[in-house]
Amino acid sequence: MPTATQTFETQRSQISGFPIQDIVKEFGTPCYVYDMSVIEERVRDLSAFDVVRYAQKACSNIGILDRLRRLGVVVDAVSAGEVKRALAAGYDPKKEPHCIVFTADVFDREALAIVKEYGLHVNCGSPDMIQQLGSAVPGSSVTLRINPGFGHGHSQKTNTGGPQSKHGIWHEDVDECLRMADLNNVLVTGLHMHIGSGTDLEHLSQVCESLEKIALQVGRTLTTISAGGGLPVPYRQGQTYVDLDQYYSLWDATRKRLESSFGHPLNLEIEPGRYLVAESGFLIAEIRAVKKMGENIFYLLDAGFNDLARPILYGAYHPISISHRDGRISKQTADVVVGGPLCESGDIFTQEEGGFVAKRNLPVAFVGDFLILEVAGAYGFVMASNYNGRYRVPEVLLEKGKMHCIRARESFEDLIHGEVIPPVG
Ligand code: LLP
Repeated sequence: MPTATQTFETQRSQISGFPIQDIVKEFGTPCYVYDMSVIEERVRDLSAFDVVRYAQKACSNIGILDRLRRLGVVVDAVSAGEVKRALAAGYDPKKEPHCIVFTADVFDREALAIVKEYGLHVNCGSPDMIQQLGSAVPGSSVTLRINPGFGHGHSQKTNTGGPQSKHGIWHEDVDECLRMADLNNVLVTGLHMHIGSGTDLEHLSQVCESLEKIALQVGRTLTTISAGGGLPVPYRQGQTYVDLDQYYSLWDATRKRLESSFGHPLNLEIEPGRYLVAESGFLIAEIRAVKKMGENIFYLLDAGFNDLARPILYGAYHPISISHRDGRISKQTADVVVGGPLCESGDIFTQEEGGFVAKRNLPVAFVGDFLILEVAGAYGFVMASNYNGRYRVPEVLLEKGKMHCIRARESFEDLIHGEVIPPVG
């Protein structure tokens, strides 16, 4: 069972032994910082599974992908761009055929071309993909991603199962897809279910039963089953991890029953994104204004929802800590609202689902102090944008006593890259 890495303290002087002041001196604010030792620990937690396939959409910097590759983790890619990121990080599908699996509900033309070029294994989330893959790469083996008819996530927007979800092949269409696979010279060797992100053990466990039923329907061509991702991490005091031993046991028992029906071994994969990187990541910002609006006190930062979109998108809660510029510890606290610099009222980090502004009890802080949004490694930087003409911020990897810049702060040239003023007349 993993133990909580984050302390939920509201004052922080360092990350992985590096004083916040030193990090800021070198990289400025805002900046994303990842603690590699946390990622390593999370990889170790999952070592019982035969294959850990990282859903790189959670944090796809090639510096992180490289380190995960060295730890024996393989990847999932959802676009041609993510396939190219994995290649740039040293994954070599010619040497290890399944080190990159393309998982999606559609092939765009570039994705189908790259799948063909590298002979990538595909996890098909729509029946049309079977036919399209069969005609582009006859003789392919595929995984079917099944929507079991139910789902669950930390928000309705991250629930990927049930009839309202666009994801996966509907569980009642499996026979039809098997016929389609035969007709298109495609062999179904894998079965996959991912019911949502940030779910819980109760819902995750239901997947085993559903997958087992469908696996028996697909039959002996199967060599791999995947539990998908979805493992939650604690964002708030009191939240806990899924009991991984129990979770693994459920999947292992499912796998073993299927192995005895089929008479051959099955690989058991897990496909986490959030679990591997969320707790490693911190977004460090500077408080640039402190103001009172009626009864509310606002801390306004130099980071906004263009840097971390989870609160505005899902009402997601991130732990927040303060680091005083002069290193002092403050005893006084205040209930405050934390917002960013964007010209939008929704640019509030302390909001709940539905956009309701909430207050957070934080140390009394002043302009120039640092505010750290924690557990921000998953779906943080990757969902950043240039909205309001803002540069995307640097990403820094803290590893074995060194600070590595793994992505530079963008410049004005990056901001207007590719834009053209057309000739007049
Ligand atoms: N596998 C598939 C097919 C997925 O669609 C996803 C996530 C994962 C694995 C990884 O799920 P995880 O282990 O990270 O829960 N932006 C949202 C999360 C969207 C998840 C999308 N799919 C957030 O910030 O919470």
